[in-house]
Amino acid sequence: MKTNLIGVVMVGGLLLSFTYYQTKPWVVPEKNAKMANPVKADAASLKTGKEMWTKHCASCHGKTGLGDGTKAASLKTAMEDLTTAAVQKQSDGALYYKVSEGREEMPSFKKKIPDSEDLWSIVNYMRTFKK
Ligand code: HEC
Repeated sequence: MKTNLIGVVMVGGLLLSFTYYQTKPWVVPEKNAKMANPVKADAASLKTGKEMWTKHCASCHGKTGLGDGTKAASLKTAMEDLTTAAVQKQSDGALYYKVSEGREEMPSFKKKIPDSEDLWSIVNYMRTFKK
C-alpha cells in the first residue's frame, strides 16, 4: 500500500513537471533546431520575408519585432521582443519550427504559408531585427 502511494506521488510529480516543461519554455526538438536554412538571406529572400512579415506577423509582433503590433494588447500572452538575444541566439531551425508549429496564441503557419522557402525567408527577415 505504502509503496503504491509513493508511486502515485512520484508519477504525479513527473506529470506536473512535464506539464510545466510543456507550457513554459518552448522546447524545440533537436532535429528541428539543427535544420539548416536552405534559403540564402539575399535581397530577394529578405524582400519576400518582409512582405510575409507585414502580412502575417506584424499585427501581433509589430513592424520591427518589438511586440507592439495592433493586436498585441488584446492577447493574453505578453508579447516578447524578438530583437533580443534570447530570441536571436536561437538557431534558424528553431525559429522555423516555432513559426511553423505555433503554440497557444502564436498561430501555426505551416498551412497558411505552405511554401517552406517563404517560411525560411521570414526567418532570414527576422534576423534583420537583431540589435
Ligand atoms: C495572433 C498574434 C500572433 C501572430 C499573427 C504571430 N505571432 Fe508569433 N507569437 C505570438 C505569441 C503570443 C507568441 C508567444 C507564444 C508562446 O510563447 O507561447 C509568439 C511567439 C513567436 C516566436 C517565438 C519567440 C521565442 O521566444 O522563441 C516567433 C519566432 C514568432 N512568434 C514569430 C512569428 C512570425 C514569423 C509570425 C508570422 C508568420 C508570427 N509570429 C505571427 C503571437 C503571434
